[in-house]
Amino acid sequence: MAALVLPMVCGLKKERFAVQKNALIRLKRMNDFSRILLDWYAGHKRELPWRGTKDPYRIWISEIILQQTRVAQGYEYFRRFMERFPDVTSLAEADEDEVMRYWQGLGYYSRARNLHAAARSMNGVFPRTYEGVRALKGVGDYTAAAICSIAFDMPYAVVDGNVYRVLSRYFGVETPIDSTVGKKTFAALAQEMLDVEHPGLYNQAIMDFGALQCTPQSPSCLFCPLADACSALSAGKVNQLPVKQHRTKTTDRYFTYIYICIGGKMLLRKRTGNDIWRNLYELPLIETDRQLSGEELLSHPFLRKELDGQAVRPFVRPLLMGVKHVLSHQIIHADFYEMNIPADIPGFPDYIRIGQGEWERYAVPRLIHLFLEKYA
Ligand code: ADE
Repeated sequence: MAALVLPMVCGLKKERFAVQKNALIRLKRMNDFSRILLDWYAGHKRELPWRGTKDPYRIWISEIILQQTRVAQGYEYFRRFMERFPDVTSLAEADEDEVMRYWQGLGYYSRARNLHAAARSMNGVFPRTYEGVRALKGVGDYTAAAICSIAFDMPYAVVDGNVYRVLSRYFGVETPIDSTVGKKTFAALAQEMLDVEHPGLYNQAIMDFGALQCTPQSPSCLFCPLADACSALSAGKVNQLPVKQHRTKTTDRYFTYIYICIGGKMLLRKRTGNDIWRNLYELPLIETDRQLSGEELLSHPFLRKELDGQAVRPFVRPLLMGVKHVLSHQIIHADFYEMNIPADIPGFPDYIRIGQGEWERYAVPRLIHLFLEKYA
C-alpha cells in the first residue's frame, strides 16, 4: 500500500515545486519587465508639452486629443486648445460652436462635445477620485487610468493599443484582444505589471515603448532591452501578436456636395441627427448608395424641389471628383460640384447664406475644409 502512495506524494511535491518555480520565474520576469521599461523610458521618453505636469485638466485634454491623432499632429491642437481654454471654467463657459472650431480637423467630434459637456458638469473643480473621473462624460477606463495615475499617482494601469502589443508579445498571450476574455486577461495582466510606486511614469513608459520600440510593423527587436525574455521573439511570433478576431467592418458612403452660390453668397448647413459630423457645417449634400452622375444630379429631386418655380437655369459644373475620405468605420466617396446663381433668389430655407470669405468662422469637417481652402 505504502509503496503505492509514495510515488503519488513525490508526484505532488514535484508538481508543487514546478508550480512554485514557474511562479518565481514569472515574478522575476514581472519585476524585470517593469524595471527595464522604466530604465528605457528614462533614456527615450518623448518630450511632450503635456508631460511634466500634474494638472488633471491638461492631462485630460491631451489624452482625449491623443486618442485620435498622432503625437506630432496632436501637439499643435493641444497648444491652441490650451491657449484658448486654459482651465475647466473657460471651457465650460465657451459655446459649443467655438469648441468645435478648435477641434475641427481632428475628427471624432463627439469627443469635443463630451469634453465640453464634462467641463460644464464639474462646477469649476476637476474631480479627485477615480470614480469621479471615470464618471465624466466621454471618459472610459483608459482615460480615467491615465489621468488618475499621471495626475494623482493612483495605481491604475492603462490599456491601449500599445499596451496590448507589448504585453501580448512579451508574455506570449494569444487570446484575441477584441474578445471579452482577452479584454479581461490583458486588463488583469496590465494591472499586475503596474509599478504601483510610479504608476504615472510606468503607464507612460509602456505606451512610449509600444509607440517607439515595440511598433506594429518592423519593431526593433535587435536593440530591444526586453528581447532576452520576450516570448514572441523566441517563438518567432512577433508579427502574429497581438491577435485580433474581427476585422474592422467599413461602410462605403457616396456624398455629392454642391457648392451653391446665390447672389454671391454660399450656402452652408449644420449637420444634425445621429451620424458623423453632428453639429458641424457642410455644403448642400445629396447622399446616395452609389456615385451620382452629372445628369442624375441635375434631375435629382433635391435640386428640382429647391429650384421649383424659380425662373433660373442654374449652371452646374464638376469641380472635384472622386475624393476618398477614410474614417475609422466609413469610407466617404465624395464629388464636389459648383452651382452658381447670380440672382439673389429665395429658396433653400434650411441653409444659411454667408459671404465668400466667412466660412472659416464655422466648424466644418476636414473633408469640407480641404475643399473650401482650395475652391472657395
Ligand atoms: N498615448 C496617449 N497618451 C499617452 C501618454 N500619456 N504617454 C504616451 N503615449 C500616450
